Amino acid sequence: MSADAVSAENKALRSRRSCLAVPGSNPRFLEKAKGLDADQVFLDIEDAVAPLAKPDARKNIVAALNEGGWGEKVRVVRVNDWTTKWTYRDVIEVVEGAGANLDCIMLPKVQTAEQVVALDLLLTQIETTVGLEAGRIGIEAQIENALGLTNVNAIAAASPRVETIIFGPADFMASINMKSLVVGEQPSGYDVGDAYHHILMSILMAARAYDKQAIDGPYLQIRDTDGFRRVASRSAALGFDGKWVLHPGQVDVANEVYSPRQEDYDHAENILDAYDWFTSEAGGKKGSAMLGDEMIDEASRKMALVISAKGRAAGM
Ligand code: GLV
Ligand code: MG
Repeated sequence: MSADAVSAENKALRSRRSCLAVPGSNPRFLEKAKGLDADQVFLDIEDAVAPLAKPDARKNIVAALNEGGWGEKVRVVRVNDWTTKWTYRDVIEVVEGAGANLDCIMLPKVQTAEQVVALDLLLTQIETTVGLEAGRIGIEAQIENALGLTNVNAIAAASPRVETIIFGPADFMASINMKSLVVGEQPSGYDVGDAYHHILMSILMAARAYDKQAIDGPYLQIRDTDGFRRVASRSAALGFDGKWVLHPGQVDVANEVYSPRQEDYDHAENILDAYDWFTSEAGGKKGSAMLGDEMIDEASRKMALVISAKGRAAGM
């Protein structure tokens, strides 16, 4: 396997059950985030930071990344989107200043594949200029409006740097004129199903088609841990890899919800062991067999591999 393939594989295995939002304008929050148990942190220069505070936020973020202390966390910076005047300076300042201590740039409100390509080209120039390994900085693409969702497959395929496709529910609700102000909950009056199902599935299909991770967005009622668990459980059940967390109280819940249950992990391991046995010479070279009351075959093995991999990534 080439070095590139190895590093691509390692990137795919990055755990992102809990992705903690930290405003770059607040040095105290940046420091506190280091001690939390989130799989990923994203240091924000976008919507959690006021326009006049953005220049300082860039500097705080560079300093916090270079100081270290982030442990195994995936370190991400969310820049402003390409329709603003800030994006190029966000990227240049952060990647030139702290590229060696940064894993990904998160690009919000992505609408077209070209916007991903533009970021990819800029990153390539910066990596070359400051002597970083080519392709070191990944891209996380946030889908937050109707045009972005329409183009989500092309966005996922736009660059090998893309590691995740993220749902941004608040901006998305605004973009489609949804008649609700409660992010992540069903809009009242819509009582025939899940108003987010199409969006979540479209993001998940694009992510799986191009081998990316699918990440659910924020739940703004930060004191309602039960509500967070209920909403997170939906996208976790579909196959999403993780969710944003806005508050320390959401971290453990996300880590639990996006990991397999112990009984499912144990069952997956049993399926894999049984499959290895009944397909072997000694086990009769069978294509399918019974495990307890359940018939298992090659497709069962594939499902078990998914649960087993998620469990191992979670340290089970
Ligand atoms: C996140 O950025 C959102 O808009 O929900
Ligand atoms: Mg947003």
